[in-house]
Amino acid sequence: MADQKLNGEVFFPKEDTINNAIVKDWNQFKLKAEENYIGFWEEEAENLHWFKRWDKVLDDSEKPFYKWFTGAKTNISFNCLDVHVKTARRNKLALIWEGEKGEFEAMSYYRLHQETCRFANILKSMGVVKGDRVTIYMGRIPEIAIAMLACARIGAIHSVVYGGFSVESLHERIEDSQSKVLIVADGAYQRGKIVPLKEIADEALKRAGGIEHVIVVKRTGQDINMEFGRDMWYHELRSLPIANNDCVLEIMDAEDPLFILYTSGTTGKPKAILHTHGGYQVGVYSTLKYVFDLKDEDRYWCAADPGWITGHSYIVYGPLLNGATSFMYEGAPNYPYPNRYWQMIEKYGINILYTSPTAIRGLMRFGDAWVNRHDLSSLRILGSVGEPINPEAWKWYYKTVGKGKCPIMDTWWQTETGMFMITPTPTVPLKPGSGTKAFPGLQFDILDENGDKVADNEEGYLVIKNPWPAMIRTLWGDPERYVQQYWSKYPGYYLTGDSAKRDEDGYFWVIGRVDDVIKVSGYRLGTAEIESALVSHKAVAEAAAIGLPHEIKGNAIYAYVILRAGFEQSDELFEELRQHVGHEVGPIAKPEQIKFVNSLPKTRSGKIMRRVLKAKELGLDPGNLSTLEE
Ligand code: PRX
Repeated sequence: MADQKLNGEVFFPKEDTINNAIVKDWNQFKLKAEENYIGFWEEEAENLHWFKRWDKVLDDSEKPFYKWFTGAKTNISFNCLDVHVKTARRNKLALIWEGEKGEFEAMSYYRLHQETCRFANILKSMGVVKGDRVTIYMGRIPEIAIAMLACARIGAIHSVVYGGFSVESLHERIEDSQSKVLIVADGAYQRGKIVPLKEIADEALKRAGGIEHVIVVKRTGQDINMEFGRDMWYHELRSLPIANNDCVLEIMDAEDPLFILYTSGTTGKPKAILHTHGGYQVGVYSTLKYVFDLKDEDRYWCAADPGWITGHSYIVYGPLLNGATSFMYEGAPNYPYPNRYWQMIEKYGINILYTSPTAIRGLMRFGDAWVNRHDLSSLRILGSVGEPINPEAWKWYYKTVGKGKCPIMDTWWQTETGMFMITPTPTVPLKPGSGTKAFPGLQFDILDENGDKVADNEEGYLVIKNPWPAMIRTLWGDPERYVQQYWSKYPGYYLTGDSAKRDEDGYFWVIGRVDDVIKVSGYRLGTAEIESALVSHKAVAEAAAIGLPHEIKGNAIYAYVILRAGFEQSDELFEELRQHVGHEVGPIAKPEQIKFVNSLPKTRSGKIMRRVLKAKELGLDPGNLSTLEE
């Protein structure tokens, strides 16, 4: 491999990594998938259980509403649990969990299966049936995985809302999904403090109708309000005879919905991305297996939150489909000290660590000594996700954390793609900051405004040219927007919303979003959510939000506000507005800075030109201003 001629700074895989890899000749493997991508996915699907085999692997008769494994019967929860409890894996740890305060929990596949059945029976007893929506709002605790698997088992569609979101975000998502049941924790620990999840939920439920039952999981134990007839403690329900550990599973069509997950889009409200049982399980199963070279003996840690797609695909479903041991940690990376991650890697013998550039940059700031105190020799492979990783952070991760022996899998993907898309595998030569190339069976391109391919090293719109099994099926309740948003700019191609370059070696370099999505610490937020939170404050007439580069967070939010008559700008108002956004959307959405202005740059049709604001802040050329209002 080392004799390959590649441009720029390249890190080649070590002998050991190559010798141990599941796929040794990656190029050959990829070539085969390129020749017949449908056959590639079909072969991967053979590794999972289907109650009935598919009639067709890919049905593109109604594109862009692609269908995968049509005619097949399956259930992802069965493949995650039941399949393993029938084998020696029943005694293997499925989940290891550490709480922020240091508590510990470990669950075998056998136990996780039982707990899932019990939870599923509780949901059934509340009248939840196939196709019903259930909203889940919790921190990183085992019950979140159990609740998701329980929904899947009975064919209910889960809608997990990230525990860092607040009142209005939760309200909007409950209402839009028309959920019948809400599963919530009393609170979550974050940096030694309690996030009052139930209290936030109570406020959201005052704004939203439709929820018949609330199941409350006890985590933090502070006093909370329990509404008689609506709210029930999970631990009490769990001890009732109804919650027995034998639960008949719902046999699902491959294309039946598994979950919806809200994510921020170009305009307006967050949209619900729909994923289904059949194709999604094939996609996440095989990508995790090959990209992290997952072995039966591995202890794998994805440090994301289950409330985002990374947690859905690669804390819960992907590892369990592979029969792996997944580690989950509740709290902050630097709590109580900046060695928390390294301490846990040593303690549990973690082999694979998958985290975000923000976490890496945040920990790098504290220096090498915190890392070097710990024995990290168990680490074999590292991963990064959520935003571009700058070469400096990449090299620190590689040298200081991985000791120069662990390849870094910089995985580019999205809520919509469901699975890794542009990513290395352990035997691929790496360039810091590049996700290298497409996963087998996927074809990408970079296009200019007119739909022509750009030259090497030129920036353009990143598009996907062929379908993949874990792809978004539609936007829940809004199929037209699905077509419009993803498939209309370049008909036949999926528009990612990112800009990217491809270098002369065919390596992709993702630059960032080209729409009104801001990635803050890898979390996805829409300018519209922040702006509508701002204008819901009595002092604000109009608002605009943009993302500007930030050393640790990748991007930080800057807001511009026009005040209503009778209100004066002040430091107190600035703080009040920040808190207001935190209360409505969530702490991650709080603007770094708010500027009080008299006007905003707008097009003649009244659209705020955020790129003009951004260019001005960065001292760049604002580009074409012909549509700017006088
Ligand atoms: O801009 C890209 C960025 O995150 C976006 C997708 O965000 P979300 O749906 O929240 O999913 C995040 C986790 C998969 C993308 O459009 N992004 C994600 N991973 C990378 C990335 N940008 C650069 N490099 C990555 N590895």
